[in-house]
Amino acid sequence: MATMQQDGLIQKAQQLQHQAVQELQALSSVKECEEFRVKYLGRKGQLAHLLDGLKTLPPAERAEAGRILNALKETLTAELEKRLTQFALAEKEARLRAEALDVTLPGRRHKLGSLHLITQVTKELEDIFVRLGFEVVTGPEVETDYYNFEALNMPKDHPARDDWDSFYIEGFDDLLLRTHTSPVQIRVMQHRRPPVKVVVPGKCFRRDATDATHSPVFHQIEMLWVDRGITLAHLKGTILAFIEEFFGKNFEARFVGDYFPFTEPSLQVHVRRKGSDRWLEILGAGMVDPAVLQEVDYDPEEYTGFAFGLGVERMAMLKYGVDDIRMFYQNDIRFIETF
Ligand code: PHE
Repeated sequence: MATMQQDGLIQKAQQLQHQAVQELQALSSVKECEEFRVKYLGRKGQLAHLLDGLKTLPPAERAEAGRILNALKETLTAELEKRLTQFALAEKEARLRAEALDVTLPGRRHKLGSLHLITQVTKELEDIFVRLGFEVVTGPEVETDYYNFEALNMPKDHPARDDWDSFYIEGFDDLLLRTHTSPVQIRVMQHRRPPVKVVVPGKCFRRDATDATHSPVFHQIEMLWVDRGITLAHLKGTILAFIEEFFGKNFEARFVGDYFPFTEPSLQVHVRRKGSDRWLEILGAGMVDPAVLQEVDYDPEEYTGFAFGLGVERMAMLKYGVDDIRMFYQNDIRFIETF
């Protein structure tokens, strides 16, 4: 026969069940499930509280009440686990969906740059000369008067200096922006014994008037070959070979006498597209002057050599039909993209 206490406990259990089942149905996330577990099934939860109450019952009635409470605990636990699994699955799916990468999405296209035409032509020419056995070397763009002029057989008052109207460095009357790549001839020969066979690309600077074929900064490639028995025939052969290699068969070249203090004899080379009536001077050349060889302690009786310096912009203008040298430096993207 049930006592008052037992009735009270069972009633509380029923209330608890009623309330818990309602809350269970309202659960909507893993987090809420965990909160529910603490509230009802935890060590200090409401069910534990009721189970504590068993102690106050007369021993004969404990078993019955205990069975009811345990059944309630099992029901709630089972129901909670079901919901928990369901939410865990749904939440995982939602997370995967949110973090999903669409690997079929096309990538973003990066704009690829390209080498400036001057750089392209410089490399193309270097390659030709490397195939002919020349080695690429470079020298400084700021030069001393000695290397730019004096060692090249142009003492201080030499009138030929006027042909290379120069930018001097303020405060240093001995320093200037090199007016040609020829000073590198001296630098190389000072440190080597023949055979010397080098190609020297680089920027040059002159206080020239700016017009369609002149620019105060431009690029040259210098060639120097010194050894026993080098003759004008080597010079002409090398020049004709590289011109044909670079321009192809549709161009022709002519040699014209010239004067440079550091070569003797000296000449210049003109090139034109066959059929055109416009020749363009592309390089100055000559046999290295004995005075230059002596300056670097080469015996001119033993060694001879040739040198030439070509204008990279002019080579590019002829080959690619650019009719104004200023186009190279204006950074007009339409021009740059053409090549
Ligand atoms: N340095 C000369 C110039 O800039 C070109 C040149 C180079 C001439 C080598 C002869 C020999 O005009």
